[in-house]
Amino acid sequence: MSSQASSESTEQTLPTLSATLPHPEPQGPLLDPVGRELPEFPVPEPLGSHGPGRIIALCNQKGGVGKTTTTISLGAALAEYGRRVLVVDFDPQGAASVGLGVNPNELDRTIYNAMMERGTSLRDVLRTTDIDGLDLVPANIDLSAAEVQLVGEVARESVLSRALRDVVDDYDVILVDCQPSLGLLTVNALTAAHGVMIPLECEFFALRGVALLVETIEKVRDRLNPRLEVDGILATMFDSRTLHAREVVQRVYEAFGDTLFHTVIGRTVKFPDASVAAEPITVYAPTHAGATAYRQLARELVARGDAA
Ligand SMILES: Nc1ncnc2c1ncn2[C@@H]1O[C@H](COP(=O)(O)OP(=O)(O)O)[C@@H](O)[C@H]1O
Ligand SMILES: [Mg+2]
Repeated sequence: MSSQASSESTEQTLPTLSATLPHPEPQGPLLDPVGRELPEFPVPEPLGSHGPGRIIALCNQKGGVGKTTTTISLGAALAEYGRRVLVVDFDPQGAASVGLGVNPNELDRTIYNAMMERGTSLRDVLRTTDIDGLDLVPANIDLSAAEVQLVGEVARESVLSRALRDVVDDYDVILVDCQPSLGLLTVNALTAAHGVMIPLECEFFALRGVALLVETIEKVRDRLNPRLEVDGILATMFDSRTLHAREVVQRVYEAFGDTLFHTVIGRTVKFPDASVAAEPITVYAPTHAGATAYRQLARELVARGDAA
């Protein structure tokens, strides 16, 4: 017996011992939470050049479903894989800005100015972040005025789309973090986007309101943006220990089929902790399952062809 083992308590030695045992062969393929075979998503090839960016809107008119967390964490994961990523905070609450270490209430110029003022470009309000390869267009409460002011604008649904034209060639992926509503700002995000990602919290009423969201997406596709696709539905805050959460994802799968990402994000307090630290989870807790899940989502998105 090694001196190390004898000096440790039983609780500490048990995992050490089991770690040295041969791992049993896995029984068949790995399955995702709805029982589909889980493909192995390869690490994306490095890119030789960057842009033009694919614009993805993160959308759900329900609040607290993981839009902002997904924007930040997926953005940071894609940046780790060498992608040039722009996060556009498109919620007057400014949570994506705060989550990336920027206090938007101290800023004079934000997305609002780039959209509403002639002579202010998106480049003028764009900032780098502490994450290599990830830039931010911040938002603050000023943006709430845009919702009203846009009503009187010519081509009021495509103001964001026009603002993004200045920078779209510099990025591989542009993630737009929408506010929890289906108002004119969200319509602007959908008009600018190539794809929509819909985060759904794994709880009983998750599907409530999704029909209306899908209807809005279809209207925007018909009238304003024929290229718009639903990239995927992402189940968030999944607690594998509860039957309830598994039933919810199963129902989402029955309703939407393979639009549901294989990747599911588990519920963990590390996400709110990372928000408090104003860091993406991939930086705050790089080896935690939450960070791993968002890296898998980034690889799945690339494997599906929805990101470079
Ligand atoms: N997978 C998760 N597990 C636990 N808490 C989460 C998870 N994802 C997000 N949260 C927390 O839930 C709250 C709402 O998430 P957020 O991303 O801000 O939602 P939304 O942008 O849709 O309003 C935040 O406090 C966030 O830290
Ligand atoms: Mg949000």
